[in-house]
Amino acid sequence: MFIPSKEVLLFLAQKHYETFILAVLSIGVIFLVPKFGWKTVAISYRGHIRGRLGLPFIGETFSLLSATNSTKGCYEFVRLRRQWYGKWFKTRIFGKIHVFVPSAEGAKMIFSNDFVKFNKGYVKSMADCVGKNSLLCVPHENHRRIRRLLSDPFSMNSLSQFVQKFDKMLCQKLKKLEEGGKSFVVLEFGMKMTFDAMCSMLMSVTEDSLLRKIEKDCTTISDAMLSLPVMIPGTRYYKGIKARGRLMETFKDMIDRRRSGKESPEDFLQSTLDRDSYPPNEKLQDSEIIDNLLTLIIAGQTTTAAAIMWSVKFLDENKEAQDRLREEQLSIAKSKPDGASVTLEDIKDMSYCLKYVANSNDIMGIIVMAFQHSICFVFQVIKETLRMANVLLWFPRFALSDCTIQGKLSSFEIKKGWHANIDATCIHYDPDLYADPMQFNPDRFDEMQKPNSFIPFGSGPRTCLGINMAKVTMLVFLHRLSSGYRWTVNDLDTSLEKKAHIPRLRSGCPITLKAL
Ligand code: HEM
Repeated sequence: MFIPSKEVLLFLAQKHYETFILAVLSIGVIFLVPKFGWKTVAISYRGHIRGRLGLPFIGETFSLLSATNSTKGCYEFVRLRRQWYGKWFKTRIFGKIHVFVPSAEGAKMIFSNDFVKFNKGYVKSMADCVGKNSLLCVPHENHRRIRRLLSDPFSMNSLSQFVQKFDKMLCQKLKKLEEGGKSFVVLEFGMKMTFDAMCSMLMSVTEDSLLRKIEKDCTTISDAMLSLPVMIPGTRYYKGIKARGRLMETFKDMIDRRRSGKESPEDFLQSTLDRDSYPPNEKLQDSEIIDNLLTLIIAGQTTTAAAIMWSVKFLDENKEAQDRLREEQLSIAKSKPDGASVTLEDIKDMSYCLKYVANSNDIMGIIVMAFQHSICFVFQVIKETLRMANVLLWFPRFALSDCTIQGKLSSFEIKKGWHANIDATCIHYDPDLYADPMQFNPDRFDEMQKPNSFIPFGSGPRTCLGINMAKVTMLVFLHRLSSGYRWTVNDLDTSLEKKAHIPRLRSGCPITLKAL
């Protein structure tokens, strides 16, 4: 008979502690509930939201955790309930009632009432990981000030430097990988590239050992963002909080060295420290700088890397789109001298069809406009990738008061304290908004979209802060990849990574490059 050793038992306890704790909790609730006369809730009358709230507190938490732990990904939880109850449904997760809001009309109502009728709904583990001064967690008045003071890395000047650094690193790395002839994982590659470029722009960190140390801690923190917030050694949450402590020390050391005058490179960190003598409303406290450095890295790295990975996967499955993109990008590459790096000016050229603004100097304006109007094919590819990939599956909010949200046909009541999650995935896959929605078809963006039907970066006061950085990163990546190489995907498995809050292929999409 197999008798597990102490180490094996300890390993199993650590690995499955979340399930274990929930099992203990639910057994307790199962025994207590009949005493207090609890009954199942499955509401189905008109204008109200159907769904199953399950046991008090526990609700359907197990089902969500089980979907998150499967290779179908956490959206499977939503997909199944939409099948059972319809697009509007409610559920209970970790003691809170969640309603999934699947319509562009509903999204509009929530976005335009952010901070008024709704606030961002983050689970405790997420808030503990990014810190209470993170843009993701602060109350309204601080949010506006912090957002304004965080805008420097996204200014024209910073983005211009970012594009050139990213492009240089990208060209060298792609060339080396092609020459090596070996398979490499696009997701890992994208994570490293975006991380290194962001750390260089935000705080001028370029030394590899320090970069990898910071990256390791950021990954551990990111992994803990959706976990049970219990400080038990060995758990994801525990490891995340410990990594956060280490990272805070690293950032504090950096700030101290800058203040003592030992170093003062021109970057985002320095631009915030240069405001030390400004009035409180015009500067960030150290704790705000630190929490938001971490927030920018976590919010920017995993999302952009996932989007890059999905663009490679979708283009591989759609060779016609790949060939069209290559043709367009080759014509841009050929117009530049050999070895010249991509600049924001080139990105302006990628929007060459936009004749009436071609002489304008407002390059960011042009990018925004080119993206909005899908001016060239590469913008359409990026948009279609973001629509299909749904890097952020839904956007969590909670209601500050009782309110009504308009659906397509009827309106739905939301009670104060309920969570209303904007179901971006459902909106992006809605056949009434996108014909044949599961088909990768960049051409669909020839036409303008209905308001709030294309929301990969959210909308309203909480619109993604890194929206332009994400777009130019994808643009440069697709430009270099398609105009320099053909690629073969070496693992066609479509299963998703377990325990990830962003949908990513489990394989990470390994490819081999061949120079054109
Ligand atoms: C393809 C890449 C990206 C996607 C799809 C994406 C998506 C989003 C979305 C949907 C939101 C709003 C969430 C909500 O309303 O609840 C958001 C917020 C945010 N994003 Fe991004 N993002 C990307 C890249 C980036 C980058 C590169 C950065 C920074 C370097 C960044 C920083 C942020 C920040 C700080 C917020 C919070 C804004 C606030 O609450 O005011 N993101 N992102």
